[in-house]
Amino acid sequence: KFEKNTVFVLFGASGDLAKKETFPALFGLYSEGALDPSTKIFCYARSKLTVEKLRENCTQYCRPSTTGNDKFKMDEFFKMVTYISGAYDTDDGYLRLKGEIEAFEKERGVTEPHRIFLTVAGQLKKNIYSTTGVTRVIVEKPFGDDLESSRELQKGFKPLFREDEIFKIDHFLGKDDLKRLLAVRFANPFLNGTWNKDYIECVQVWFKEPFGAEGRGGYFDVVGIIRDVMQNHLLQILTIATMEEPVANDAEAIRDAKVALLKCMEKLGPKNVVSVGQYGRSLDGKLPSYLDDDTVLNKESKCLTFTEITMDIHNDRWEGVPIVMRAGKGLDEDRVEIRMKYKKNVSGMFAGCTPNEFVIQFHPERKIYMTFNTTAPGFVDNVHQVSLDMTYSKKYAKDWVPEAYERLIRDAFLGNRANYVRDDELDVSWDIFTPLLNYVEGPNAPEPEIYPYGSTGPKGILE
Ligand code: BG6
Repeated sequence: KFEKNTVFVLFGASGDLAKKETFPALFGLYSEGALDPSTKIFCYARSKLTVEKLRENCTQYCRPSTTGNDKFKMDEFFKMVTYISGAYDTDDGYLRLKGEIEAFEKERGVTEPHRIFLTVAGQLKKNIYSTTGVTRVIVEKPFGDDLESSRELQKGFKPLFREDEIFKIDHFLGKDDLKRLLAVRFANPFLNGTWNKDYIECVQVWFKEPFGAEGRGGYFDVVGIIRDVMQNHLLQILTIATMEEPVANDAEAIRDAKVALLKCMEKLGPKNVVSVGQYGRSLDGKLPSYLDDDTVLNKESKCLTFTEITMDIHNDRWEGVPIVMRAGKGLDEDRVEIRMKYKKNVSGMFAGCTPNEFVIQFHPERKIYMTFNTTAPGFVDNVHQVSLDMTYSKKYAKDWVPEAYERLIRDAFLGNRANYVRDDELDVSWDIFTPLLNYVEGPNAPEPEIYPYGSTGPKGILE
């Protein structure tokens, strides 16, 4: 249940993520009646800002609510917000923050504080941890950059917070579409019954973005596309699409099922690499190359903005089914999806007709569709394919579909951990990807192919 007078503290409140995701999510929850109005939001950052300035910065990213009257709602919402500027590495700012939190709790008569923090810092534990009530810390990626550093990071947390106090975000887990995949698979036995090596020819997980690292070069250049989206977001999609049915509909059972699947995945290495690339200028010269970006400081960077790999799952369900994961920036289209490609019909009246496909699409449209063979109307008996299509914007046109951060922040308020990443899950995912990272960043790394901004990516990608 929603605790009254919960304190939500947002560190790094002047940053990009706060402006584009966290504030719009908090406002979205508030304006849809999904955030208790007794909640208090403290914002903390180094810059000297005001609440008015925060509001000005994030307004363009806030979605209109389904019930209107947004100007009034925004006025009310920002009354819940207080901004405090202070350093991250000294006690002073934290102590001022602590003073403000305690004053708020005292005024509201709170005896068992309920506090949620978005960020992480040892200082937090030292200065603001509540020993009587509930403390939850939401942490954003990156969670290390390989298996070893991820384990170091986890070790660092251990003396500070219990695992059930830490909420590690992979925002794809908050996407409504991915959440729904559980129901799509396990509430429809005909689907679950055919998602296996007997019926599925191949699984494709695609992440294609039509824009580059623009303005985020400082972050992207040390991370690269594999850490940015493959080891986390795309692996989450693949895991949920291929795992066995959880024994119960609860956080631990769901995460147990994911870990069990991840343990069947083969570690990745040179033999899995289909193609690697970095975007250059567009063919007409109008769009900049990765290296042209002012925020990319190393002008000889070999950072991968595109990678395609094959993957194997060694279990009874998936043995021998090729899995292809492709991710790239600066490409020709906006497309994030998982595609289950069915095998061909090899015998009978309709042998050889076009195989079925089942697709869960996240971008550009949220939709689930399936290609389906039938005959065209009229006197011709030709089999052709149609699409059985559930596009969210049509099917749920009037509904509020929460954005990823809205769902996740609400889950943290409610203490629901199902959509957060568990430590052992993180561990196996790094175990799978670390050998691949060592290869593409090591002395025998393959040379990234330069592909034009706005193209389909490097040559040699699989059909
Ligand atoms: C982020 C990556 O985690 O996910 C970005 O850092 C990427 O590079 C983004 O663009 C994609 O998320 P979404 O929600 O826009 O699909």
